[in-house]
Amino acid sequence: MSLTFRWQSPSNIALVKYWGKRDPQLPSNPSISFTLDACHTQTHAIFEPGQGIQVLLNGEDAPNFVPKISQFIERIGHRHAWLGDYSLKVDTVNSFPHSSGIASSASGLSALALCVVDAALALGAPLQESDARREASILSRLGSGSASRSVYGGLVVWGATHSVPGSHDEYAVPYPHAVHPMFRTFRDVVMLVDVGQKAVSSTAGHALMERHPFAQQRFNQAHQHLSDLQSILRDGDLMPFLDLVESEALTLHGLMMSSQPSYILMRPNTLHIIEAIRAHRLSTGMPIGFTLDAGANVHVLFPAEVEQKAMDFVKQILAPFTKNGRYIVDQVGTGPVPLTDQAKPK
Ligand code: PMV
Repeated sequence: MSLTFRWQSPSNIALVKYWGKRDPQLPSNPSISFTLDACHTQTHAIFEPGQGIQVLLNGEDAPNFVPKISQFIERIGHRHAWLGDYSLKVDTVNSFPHSSGIASSASGLSALALCVVDAALALGAPLQESDARREASILSRLGSGSASRSVYGGLVVWGATHSVPGSHDEYAVPYPHAVHPMFRTFRDVVMLVDVGQKAVSSTAGHALMERHPFAQQRFNQAHQHLSDLQSILRDGDLMPFLDLVESEALTLHGLMMSSQPSYILMRPNTLHIIEAIRAHRLSTGMPIGFTLDAGANVHVLFPAEVEQKAMDFVKQILAPFTKNGRYIVDQVGTGPVPLTDQAKPK
């Protein structure tokens, strides 16, 4: 029997960062992210009795992605033994430009995990509807930690912490506390500073946290930040929100700079953008801030109500610091959607 499933799943951007892990892909500290909208992956997975893995990226054969997918299927095999009897064809399309410096692992692996769970359900796995999404988060996590958060919309927490009831190291959960409506439509404009391959992978970066001199303090701080966010998110305290999120971004890069060996992923234009944002906030009072991924690109964050003025600033002042003036306009999204035949990847 041939089983075919299609999902669209978004990327996400962490506000409190996951940095450091232990086996099997469990986080050293809790994290919270905004699920994105425009940056997503559409995946069409076909399971057929047999063996082998084939990957198509944007309609073209992509054999260099096969090892990554094989490793993923291997890692989730203990939960889905049936996969051993099926071949897999993955046809995947990213909405964001290839080699834009935006990691496709969160959106790509979560989309594939959602297809695997649907296939398991079709084969009679004893999963309830609500357990199915949790299972997709567990599988996504085994592929790439941050992918575990992409299976829900809005604000999502991964990693057990006292201030978030229901939070867990093995899967992500939707943020359960009250959230000011402004955070449901928050904007994230990704300034593409460097679109090449990262000098040091996230995997290597996580490993360097194992003997990092500041590790324990950092892990404690992440718990504290999750707890501090509770009233900030509820009351819509914009300036404290931006302060906390920026401190998280700079801490992430500070950890890289104080690892053994040390390394720097920010580029000179990353700093130019950061300084321009801070100067603009100071001089105009506009609630605009930034966060960073494990790379040189800058995510510019602001509420929808200041969109017009913020976009003028992005275009006129920040865009000249990017590679060929490139940036991606995104915002908080509502999470993955199953695709029907009419909406299959083009
Ligand atoms: O999911 P990974 O292993 O690629 O790690 C991602 C880590 C950060 O993006 C830097 C932070 C996060 O929580 O997403």
